[in-house]
Amino acid sequence: MKKFFGMAHGQQASLYVLENDTLSMAVTDYGATLVSLVDKKTGIDVVQGYESAEEYVAQDVYTGATIGRTANRIEKGEFSLNGTIYHLPINNNGNCNHGGISGFNDKMYSAREYGDRVEFNRISLDGEEGYPGNLWLTVTYKLLKNGVEVQADAHCDKDTLFSFTNHSYFNLDQSENVLDHEVRLMSHRFALSDANGLALPVFKEVADTPFDFRSFKKLGRDIGQDDEQLRFGKGYDHYFAVDGEGMRLMAQCQGKQLCLFVYSDLPGFHLYTGNWLRGLSGKHGMRYPAYSAVCFEASYMPNAINYPDIEPKPILRKDTSVSCRIKWILQAK
Ligand code: BGC
Repeated sequence: MKKFFGMAHGQQASLYVLENDTLSMAVTDYGATLVSLVDKKTGIDVVQGYESAEEYVAQDVYTGATIGRTANRIEKGEFSLNGTIYHLPINNNGNCNHGGISGFNDKMYSAREYGDRVEFNRISLDGEEGYPGNLWLTVTYKLLKNGVEVQADAHCDKDTLFSFTNHSYFNLDQSENVLDHEVRLMSHRFALSDANGLALPVFKEVADTPFDFRSFKKLGRDIGQDDEQLRFGKGYDHYFAVDGEGMRLMAQCQGKQLCLFVYSDLPGFHLYTGNWLRGLSGKHGMRYPAYSAVCFEASYMPNAINYPDIEPKPILRKDTSVSCRIKWILQAK
């Protein structure tokens, strides 16, 4: 079902609502964004979002959006590819975050609705936000019996960077705080960040640190510890590497009634506890203050392009195609 969702940058945005017996999902063509995911049995909407495209344009926290061309930060907005230095706009403490000032989250897509999925398409032109090549992007949200699978397919007519993620903010209780959510991460090492939130090419074992979520632990249990890494980010805002390849479990999260499983075929994920949320008003009359949601942003390691020893790098070669997936499964606890 398609509905008018308001105006974004002078264009009409639409909301697409797909339902099955267990779930209802809404996505919009502004930012190829997940707007809601409701568990029908409990009535809980597990993601933050807004009521109109105008509200999405006005917020700057990437709620539910498709992120690109590169997720998270590129140091000083600079990278070199095939001997050419490219410059990206600086929008975050001297670095380029989430694809620039007007990244994939801020664009209109053309949409096609099928029975169980919505496909968003867009061409990102050569030079957009400083990145080389015309890039054809398709982002597909597929409603599963017990979850959602989002798939990004891209190809480009020049060598370029492509590091996709989805920036959904989860709160499995539809409450104002996720610090009581119990989380398990399938990762034993995380990347240290600098004081500006830039992931460094230095991985640390999680054992004996507040970053150890190898067994279920409340997000809030150690978040207030006197730890430099937690102070830098005001909480968790760090990249975790996940061993193995292909679609695999990355994270599990439990609220009072629901349990979320996050799968992806990307190399790891960024755990972000909404530390910089400022209390914006969202749908269902909710406010979104700091720590009101958690993001599991499956992606390549941030800034990998600038770190000689970090692999894999999110380089998309000319005239080749790449495809990656993130899957969220919801279950009763
Ligand atoms: C970043 C945070 C940032 C948030 C919203 C996360 O992926 O790591 O530092 O505040 O996105 O931009």
